[in-house]
Amino acid sequence: MSTTFPPGFLWGGATAANQVEGAYAEGGKGLSIQDVMPNGIMTPRTAEPTPDNLKLEAIDFYHRYAQDIELFAEMGFSVYRFSIAWSRIFPNGDDAEPNEEGLAFYDRVLDELERHGIEPLITMSHYETPLAIAEKYDGWVSREVIGLFERYARVLFERYGHRVKYWLTFNEINSVLHAPFMSGGINTPKDRLSATDLYQAIHHELVASASATRIAHEIDPDIKVGCMVLGMPIYPLTPDPADVLAAMGADHSNLMFSDVHTRGRYPGYALRFFRENGIELQITDEDRSLLAEHTVDFVSFSYYMSVCETADPSKKVAGRGNILGGVPNPYLPASEWGWQIDPVGLRLILNQFWDRWGKPLFIVENGLGAKDQLVESADAVDGFTVLDDYRIDYLNAHLVQVAEAVADGVEVLGYTTWGPIDLVSASTAELSKRYGFIYVDRDDDGTGTLARYRKKSFDWYREVIATGGASLRQG
Ligand code: BG6
Repeated sequence: MSTTFPPGFLWGGATAANQVEGAYAEGGKGLSIQDVMPNGIMTPRTAEPTPDNLKLEAIDFYHRYAQDIELFAEMGFSVYRFSIAWSRIFPNGDDAEPNEEGLAFYDRVLDELERHGIEPLITMSHYETPLAIAEKYDGWVSREVIGLFERYARVLFERYGHRVKYWLTFNEINSVLHAPFMSGGINTPKDRLSATDLYQAIHHELVASASATRIAHEIDPDIKVGCMVLGMPIYPLTPDPADVLAAMGADHSNLMFSDVHTRGRYPGYALRFFRENGIELQITDEDRSLLAEHTVDFVSFSYYMSVCETADPSKKVAGRGNILGGVPNPYLPASEWGWQIDPVGLRLILNQFWDRWGKPLFIVENGLGAKDQLVESADAVDGFTVLDDYRIDYLNAHLVQVAEAVADGVEVLGYTTWGPIDLVSASTAELSKRYGFIYVDRDDDGTGTLARYRKKSFDWYREVIATGGASLRQG
């Protein structure tokens, strides 16, 4: 067993604007798709924001960022991943000029991080496309959105590029296959969306990502731009070659994204899939050269769980897992939300990605969503705490596997846990699905003081960071 992490390894946490900021109509911000998604991904959008949408206030990071970053610093974070709300910068997505108030907000966040010596890692689009882009352009289905994203990207790199080295283009880009509105801003309901439009939207995002990479490198060659995928090992349910093939097919549907991001062209299996499914994409020569010449500098991914796949329709029961679905694994326990816990899967996927793409990897999300109980405690600095040993066990087990992958020779840049502070869930829009080291007093019915409390895992993570992983429990 190894618990050695490379020198300069970045330790921290990750959030997304719509899940923490709140202030959905302040500072000149326009509406984003999240402002009309009160119930998470699997339910239809509303016509306009409704009061039951917890994201409208979220955890009020917009006003409390300094206090929250201070707590991250207390844990010793060397990196903080957050997203910029596109609709704060371009309220309608296609405005001629950016919104200065929105830009100034992120200046202040960056000032605070700088003050604490925390490296920022910025996601440019984390499930929060401006609503106007969804309504006017049908999101990424329209080629015009590439130009809108390029304009947004240029503004961000020019404004912040000198102080932000690490950038991600699209959060979990592969999730668009399952959640086209949330992930691709595609307003056409999923059951009416044609495969051609879906893959054309994906193509536009891939081109926009390459184009943003080009712009970043032109502005400052030291900027590192990464892609971000939902990482999930897909095991064959049995050793039956038909199951192994089914698992390979399901894996390909996700791997295609980073294959294009890193190799600059569509792989043969994707071209075959397009051919056999009557998908005819509009791909220009300029698209081809952008993809080929501006591949990503690194690959980042989220990791929560693994799933199985089978060719046998009678065994194809849907798991209660995350966005990508999949068949449950009989060998693994699950979280309260049915996400199957598989630390070894993280080592496997780190090896798979490294062997396949040879690009540095960054684990930018990992964590356990659980129901927490705030209890009074005389020993706790805040008078109350959460005894979240289950979260410590989860994170410890995953970090041990990261160290194993490092020992396997995989280049890993860093690790940011998902939701270092409790936030609104993306899939279910609940606050009771808590991931944080910091408890936020807010409930699913919107009540609560929004006060912050350090959980037991807060001290645990501080120790892990301070010892560079040496304090991790083995076994
Ligand atoms: C990832 C997303 O899918 O998982 C995050 O990038 C999300 O936005 C996280 O919050 C955890 O999922 P959930 O549904 O528990 O919030």
